[in-house]
Amino acid sequence: MKTPVYLDGHATTPMDPRVLAVWERTARDHFGNPASTGHAFGWAASRVVELAREHVAGLIGATPREIIFTSGATEADNLAVLGLAGAFEGRGRRQLVTSNLEHPAVAGPLAWLAGQSAWELTTVPAGPSGLVAPDDLAAAVTGQTLLVSLIAAQNEIGTLQPLAAVGEICRAAGAFFHVDAAQMGSGLDLDVERDRLDLVSLSGHKMYGPKGIGALYVRRRGPRVGLRPLMYGGGQERDLRPGTLNVPAIAAFGEACRLLQLEGAADRVRIGGLRDRLWQNLQDNLPDIQLNGDAKARLAGNLNVSFGGVPPGRLVGALTTLAVSAGSACASAEGRVSAILLALGVGPELAAASLRFGLGRFTTEAEVDFAATQVVAAVRRLRAGS
Ligand SMILES: Cc1ncc(COP(=O)(O)O)c(C=O)c1O
Repeated sequence: MKTPVYLDGHATTPMDPRVLAVWERTARDHFGNPASTGHAFGWAASRVVELAREHVAGLIGATPREIIFTSGATEADNLAVLGLAGAFEGRGRRQLVTSNLEHPAVAGPLAWLAGQSAWELTTVPAGPSGLVAPDDLAAAVTGQTLLVSLIAAQNEIGTLQPLAAVGEICRAAGAFFHVDAAQMGSGLDLDVERDRLDLVSLSGHKMYGPKGIGALYVRRRGPRVGLRPLMYGGGQERDLRPGTLNVPAIAAFGEACRLLQLEGAADRVRIGGLRDRLWQNLQDNLPDIQLNGDAKARLAGNLNVSFGGVPPGRLVGALTTLAVSAGSACASAEGRVSAILLALGVGPELAAASLRFGLGRFTTEAEVDFAATQVVAAVRRLRAGS
């Protein structure tokens, strides 16, 4: 077993070797520009892109024409939120609805819109277990609602929102429903028809694919979603995302989606088992610890735990043989206490004595057992004041 052990799969995942092989092969063999319609190099690159588009679409029950490749989930989120608002501004509906658990990639563009006079933002708070109650959401949605945007799987506490119930509410109210599904690789099962989704953001590097690639699903029928582009240029991606396509990254992302569709269900069972083993191990050996986020409706790979009696801000640094984090990668870069834990009602001291574990496809039982031993020892040490 190599150390440090990687348990930060919500920040990013290692590339699956099978995905890396596709990336390498494509970069070497298919360097053509898919927009070069006059020769074989362009045709070959275009075939690679369209095959990947089928794989991405297949993962979420969409059709290939509904997939727009982007640089990642941040861009997909911005295109969904700002693109929809841009297309519908001044056409009647002016309310945007979201939760208090959103990633900055959604909260940011929504906050920007809320600062414009054309829009009104309603934030529905999640309950203490990190779930948005469909009744609360239904109470917030009105005939004025253009968009409901929810984080499908929360990146710190792993909670899985009741998408199908919310989708039903949106459809009945004539509002569009966007979900941020960046954490799909950690064990989220999603279907655009079953869950009545209109816009879905995906990220390659959270599902064993490369960084800098992702996609936005844009529903084409029942209802058709209109978006205004964020950039203007050469007309690629149905005019919604111009620029020469990153063919190797797209091919690899497609392969990552294909593998996730094939293996996701089995992955979820295995990874969920390891996660439960880790949680049991911590509970057996440490008093005064608490699980943050709903115990059942959560990503298979996620564990978020607060450790009472541990001095704030010390845990991550004490765990030199583990790659874990205190919250989101963005928050930890800025040294902030998790706003998500505070939103759930966790006190600031306890929130600052919390760990987020992100297990994944390559996590082993030995690693999980090692992690438990390390965490138990560190917590005991810190509690003892040494
Ligand atoms: C829920 C969520 N949304 C969006 C993002 C941003 O994704 P990307 O890194 O692909 O831009 C992340 C990852 O940081 C995330 O966890």
